[in-house]
Amino acid sequence: MAAFELLERDGLARRGRLETPHGTIETPALLPVVHPDPARQPLSPREMRARLGIRAVITSSYITWRTPPLRATAESRGIHGLLEFDGPVMTDSGAFQQHAYGSVEVGPDEILAFQNTIGADIGTVLDRFTEPESERDDAASALETTLERARVARSQREGLLAVPVQGGRHEDLRLRSAERASEFADVLAVGGVVPLLEQYRFPELARALAAARPGLNPGAAVHLFGTGHPMTFAFAALWGVDLIDSSAYHKFARRGSLLFAEGTVSIDGIREDLCHCFLCAELPLPEVARRPVAERERRIAFHNLLTSVEEIGRVRQAIRDGTLWELAERRATAHPALRAGLAEATRHPEVFLPTEPLSRRAFREVMPDSRTRPAVARFRRCVEEYGRDRPLPARLHRVPLRPEYLARIPTEDRGGRSIEWVCETPLGTVPVELLDLYPVGPYLGVDEFVDRPGHRPASAVTAELRERSELDADLDRDWSEEWTRRQVRALLSVAYGPEIAAAVGEEARGARSHRTGRLRTIGADGNPWFVIGTDGFPRPTFHGASRLLAFLPEGRSRVVVSYDAVPFVSRGRSVFSRFVTRADPNLVPDETALLVDRADTLLGVGRLLLAPHEMPRLRRGVAVRVTAHAKAPVPVDEVEESPAEPSDRGSD
Ligand code: GUN
Ligand code: ZN
Repeated sequence: MAAFELLERDGLARRGRLETPHGTIETPALLPVVHPDPARQPLSPREMRARLGIRAVITSSYITWRTPPLRATAESRGIHGLLEFDGPVMTDSGAFQQHAYGSVEVGPDEILAFQNTIGADIGTVLDRFTEPESERDDAASALETTLERARVARSQREGLLAVPVQGGRHEDLRLRSAERASEFADVLAVGGVVPLLEQYRFPELARALAAARPGLNPGAAVHLFGTGHPMTFAFAALWGVDLIDSSAYHKFARRGSLLFAEGTVSIDGIREDLCHCFLCAELPLPEVARRPVAERERRIAFHNLLTSVEEIGRVRQAIRDGTLWELAERRATAHPALRAGLAEATRHPEVFLPTEPLSRRAFREVMPDSRTRPAVARFRRCVEEYGRDRPLPARLHRVPLRPEYLARIPTEDRGGRSIEWVCETPLGTVPVELLDLYPVGPYLGVDEFVDRPGHRPASAVTAELRERSELDADLDRDWSEEWTRRQVRALLSVAYGPEIAAAVGEEARGARSHRTGRLRTIGADGNPWFVIGTDGFPRPTFHGASRLLAFLPEGRSRVVVSYDAVPFVSRGRSVFSRFVTRADPNLVPDETALLVDRADTLLGVGRLLLAPHEMPRLRRGVAVRVTAHAKAPVPVDEVEESPAEPSDRGSD
């Protein structure tokens, strides 16, 4: 077990790798469904690899088993011999045939043994396919059967095991299924959803995923059975799906349908060269339409697989860039049903928030629904909480102002009463001192272009304030210092709570960029304690962390590492998850934590790759990337003997 390693993430979505006996699968990965009978397969797996870079495929062990000549070949030459493919091969078990034809003629033990015999890299338990319409009692008893089979299968298989997650539309059953399957599975395969995908019932799919998700072991790879259309890949990845299978490339080809990430196009109506993929460049689509059936099918299947491979590449790139929500939203415009599915996803922020990063490089509005992303849900909670901690504002004003005008805006009236200023933004009402924070700080939306306030000289701002001024405030004084103080407190309060903000704020001062006027550092005696990046969050330096240590209660903002990792972490090596003994459960990915040993001695600071709840379960790879540390870097020759993993894989 523990075959999955997470390398990079965007919320629940992960870029990772799954080790198999026939090589590593880079995830999210597309596994084309190939027919075990080469005569019924429009493209051979070998050709898929040579021309499209396909690394892994999935096939049916059940069809192989029940077709004597295929079975004989598979038994003598293995499934890799039958498919003439030496990359990773996942085999399915026959549950889908139960869905399609009502029954399967093989028992769970026999089909598992067969998958072992033919050398499947990932074998699948014979589950009971639960239709979305199944009543609760039936779904529950089918689930027990599947789980019992999984328990037996685990004891009879050494290789990677996929355990389907069923439960139909019953949310508690989906959760239980995910939790119990997690005890046995290297691959958690969310099943019973083909009817939802075929009928574009994406909100129901979202509810099934939302229900199962909290129960899925983060240390296992997640497969979603049946998501063949490339327009759905970003949506699937958003939930943390690592493996996607596609029979759609072939199924759609049979009926003359071309798959694009933007939707489906029937070849019959095509008169223009819509596609210039290398295949369509060879023979334009209007001509493909007139070819004999077999050639036409083969060419369309090839094109379909090509657009699917391209899209899974875009998904992986989006995870690297932190733009997967944007990609998913763009894809959702392909079909209103998919948009409805995405809207349903945002109704489950609790599913996304534990792994939602502190910030991303940018926040681009794609559609009105962009304003309901989990990042926004978190930000609204943060603003509310900040408001709760504050005295009631003496005055509340809605000002369309950016922080560069701060010198002109008074923080108190002539009577010395505090004036609280808030700004109306596309993401709601935000106190002015929090305007730099992600997502509102880097927010780029239509409003900026529709109703652009333009740059106004500070004198104009003063004039406007004066005009509106029912305030008895001194508008000629320079208020920058006050704003800096207020902003320092506000940011520290958001990060560590009001008491710590008050204590640290006593000693530390903020410094602004001369060029942009934005707060850049918080520190004292010329030492920065916190550095503030473009996401607006103060991140402690090593020096700052050592000061924070005194203020924060034990455990808070900490990741505790075991003693054998101390020499490495204190010299700047990444913290591998298996050396984490405890982590503050309130930390989130990308947040900067204090790295300490068990005696609470500071070793360094680093950014979380994993959420705290994932650290005990993802035993392979990096949990925290160290950004500043106590000692000089570890010499290279010592690294070889380290108890840490031999290379810093994953920190690429
Ligand atoms: N293929 C499509 N859906 C399913 C499913 O629910 N279970 C299995 N084993 N295979 C599938
Ligand atoms: Zn094409």
